[in-house]
Amino acid sequence: MSFKFTWYGHATLGLETGGYKVLIDPYFTDNPVASMSADQAEADFILISHGHRDHIGDVVSITERTGALVISNYEIATWLNSQGVVTHAQHLGGGYQHPFGYLKLTLALHGSGLPDGSYGGNPAGFLLTTGDGEKIYLACDTGLFGDMGLIGEQGIDLAVLPIGDNFTMGPDDALRAVQLIKPKHVVPVHYNTWELIQQDADAWADRVSSETDAEVHVLQPGESLII
Ligand code: NI
Ligand code: MN
Repeated sequence: MSFKFTWYGHATLGLETGGYKVLIDPYFTDNPVASMSADQAEADFILISHGHRDHIGDVVSITERTGALVISNYEIATWLNSQGVVTHAQHLGGGYQHPFGYLKLTLALHGSGLPDGSYGGNPAGFLLTTGDGEKIYLACDTGLFGDMGLIGEQGIDLAVLPIGDNFTMGPDDALRAVQLIKPKHVVPVHYNTWELIQQDADAWADRVSSETDAEVHVLQPGESLII
């Protein structure tokens, strides 16, 4: 009854559950804070939240080496198919029972243009129910929205939220997100990659700890958490 969460730096995440390795938004090459290189990444499944370069970066090379199945929205899945990547397409609000759990794509307020200018559909977050019934919400790149409260109604064990500001929620809105979602555990991501999204995660953690019941885990790139 546990899962392992790893932050590889920026918004690149790993989940290990039910014996499967799930890699989210693999961006190692040119990522100034990546804890390892793309050729070290392991994955049975890869989730892509949206088309931006800092999320889709290394997906083709990692799938060629690992044979991982990529799960993303229909538009990104189709774009990856044309590069020889095997995919499973889903879309916002739709869930599917994968071997590692029931995965639903959630709303995200962001963009999703692909690196070559192709249309990348709508950006997504992910809500995963593991085989043991744990609920993990990866907000991915998004602004604050009130329907995070609906996601929270399900009882979230771990929420992973951006705090970098400029491109996504900043610390104030991420605190409001925690108040809406009411997760047991929360991890901040998508900050300190570049000067533009520099944030004091420890100061944010102090605010979350004093104003909510969530337990905050400020990780270093490469660090894992077992819940
Ligand atoms: Ni983005
Ligand atoms: Mn991003």
